Amino acid sequence: MTDQKKIHILAAEYMTDLTSKVHQRLEDNGFLYAALEYVNFASKEVKPRIPVTVRMEHTYLFQSLYHPTPNDAMIKLLLTNDALSRSSAEKITLVLPYMSYLRQDRKDESRVPISARVMADIIQTNPKVEKVITLDMHSDQEQGFYRISLDNLPGAWVLADYFEKKYGPDLSDLVVVSPDYGGTKRARDFARYLDGRDEIGVMEKRRSGDRAQKVETLGYQGPSVVGKNVVLYDDMIDTGGSIISATKALQSFGAKKVYAVASHGLFSPPNADLTAEERLRKAGMQVVVTNSIPRSEEYQREHGDWLTMLPLDEMLAKAVLETSKPGGSVSSLFAGRK
Ligand code: R5P
Repeated sequence: MTDQKKIHILAAEYMTDLTSKVHQRLEDNGFLYAALEYVNFASKEVKPRIPVTVRMEHTYLFQSLYHPTPNDAMIKLLLTNDALSRSSAEKITLVLPYMSYLRQDRKDESRVPISARVMADIIQTNPKVEKVITLDMHSDQEQGFYRISLDNLPGAWVLADYFEKKYGPDLSDLVVVSPDYGGTKRARDFARYLDGRDEIGVMEKRRSGDRAQKVETLGYQGPSVVGKNVVLYDDMIDTGGSIISATKALQSFGAKKVYAVASHGLFSPPNADLTAEERLRKAGMQVVVTNSIPRSEEYQREHGDWLTMLPLDEMLAKAVLETSKPGGSVSSLFAGRK
């Protein structure tokens, strides 16, 4: 144990698989593991319960903010924080691999909220919550919504390793492309992680249609994709509309194989007859995401023909171990690459 005190790693619902794998990597360091329990009332209210004593302990709470719904998950997170604090936990570190509402990070029209800021405010209402560990926030500036410490881990670390193993050591046949201007920095960071390159391509995207769910991709600027394999790199795939349009456009420009790559695979049902999964499969997509949004082994087997999910447990275990040490530094974990 790193600081002589007990440290519990707690798994909220939907997170038991990922969290127990993180725990297996930390067991030898003395970390303890427990899965939360829930009482579900007929009225649809819920009561989370911590099944172990956490008195005066540093606790790491792993929570999905996507399942069963983002709104439901947020209430459960707040109630669990309250339960931990009333159980006299010394401090709480939230491990939220996917954070919901981050795309609503500014007033993009009149009379709308900045939802990402509201979520940040309510997450921080409990004074025992001292740190958040997350993965690829929609924009870097959102870290400024938090006055507590926040570690925004790069999904690129896991995703770039995958392509390095698949195509390395010579990655010159691979072009990295951002599906829109907003994602340029993210895609460039990925390219740098991959092999130190700066040059990437950028698609021009214009949205249209109901609930902004229909997407039209218009153009491309960057290195030629003719006969090349392309990594189309985004922070998230939601309904899949953006990457399907971008992939079709890249194929029409002569790209050989296109991989749609993102940290977060939401696969929310679009307003259509097909599910997101059916739509992605039908479009012949090859998708690579992390397991920041957890899925069962059965789901992964069923969708294995178009979907690759890369596990985050090694990266999260390193982040948990580092942050549990007095003066530990998460950025030191990523300093060595390229
Ligand atoms: C947009 O700003 C995001 O980075 C993603 O490109 C977008 O949210 C993906 O949504 P969808 O898969 O529904 O097109």
